[in-house]
Amino acid sequence: MGSPSWSLCLIFLSFTSVALGATPKRPVDVPFGRNYYPTWAFDHIKYLNGGSEVQLHLDKYTGTGFQSKGNYLFGHFSMHIKMVPGDSAGTVTAFYLSSQNNEHDEIDFEFLGNRSGQPYILQTNVFTGGSGNREQRIYLWFDPTKEYHRYSILWNLYQIVFFVDDIPIRVFKNCKDLGVRFPFNQPMKIYNSLWNADDWATRGGLEKTDWSKAPFIATYKGFHVDGCEASVNAKYCATQGKRWWDQPEFRDLDAAQWRRLRWVRKKYTIYNYCTDRSRFPQMPPECKRDRDV
Ligand SMILES: *[C@@H]1O[C@H](CO)[C@@H](O)[C@H](O)[C@H]1NC(C)=O
Repeated sequence: MGSPSWSLCLIFLSFTSVALGATPKRPVDVPFGRNYYPTWAFDHIKYLNGGSEVQLHLDKYTGTGFQSKGNYLFGHFSMHIKMVPGDSAGTVTAFYLSSQNNEHDEIDFEFLGNRSGQPYILQTNVFTGGSGNREQRIYLWFDPTKEYHRYSILWNLYQIVFFVDDIPIRVFKNCKDLGVRFPFNQPMKIYNSLWNADDWATRGGLEKTDWSKAPFIATYKGFHVDGCEASVNAKYCATQGKRWWDQPEFRDLDAAQWRRLRWVRKKYTIYNYCTDRSRFPQMPPECKRDRDV
């Protein structure tokens, strides 16, 4: 301590830990059965191209869904999805991570359908220790029913980032220092599902599902999983700190990513719980960091 070489070393360390930001790795395509299995209503899942693509079907009897075989503590989780085309009002297509206990952690993408020609809404949410109420809603800058787009979650000890293709649309920073629980010790599974939610999804529930248009079909591919697999009750990941998503460049966004996030905020954001004073007269503590955007 106190020797010049030691303090030099500290300076060097603090320089190298300045987050540079980087684009997450591209997932590779593997067949469905490698990492996933159907959760319910097995006859409503159709396999295409030898299982490299699957379709979820929703009709008036049931929706359906699939989940990962593994549980994961941190990583980068992606899914390529083509949303229900045409009249999708009342439907919700979801891609999310969730732990399986009472005080659960959860990271959500939810795509709210709409009448033909009307825009989808992408709602995101983060639950920690069983409490959520952290909704943000955006419109997309493209029609998500026309082509596949990649929706991803980067989750490490420092942040949770939601990406649409390579564009960050939301960051949830670790705000443990502000007294906010951050998901770090409960492994999560990956879930995908399509179901009817016409009591709330479209225009707040005013637009109902038109069952004469059923079946509603969402299509998926890109079943690679890039996470630290852990047993369901594990409290930490065996390779913690050593994987690519743990490295300094993934601890924060870089300048270009912050600019893109600001662009999403300015042009496409419909709702942010952080600015909803009627619901939260006192701003939730983690919103201090959300505001820095
Ligand atoms: C559906 O379209 C209406 C009218 O354009 C819009 O107000 C609403 O935000 C859209 N999306 C959803 C999911 O309600």
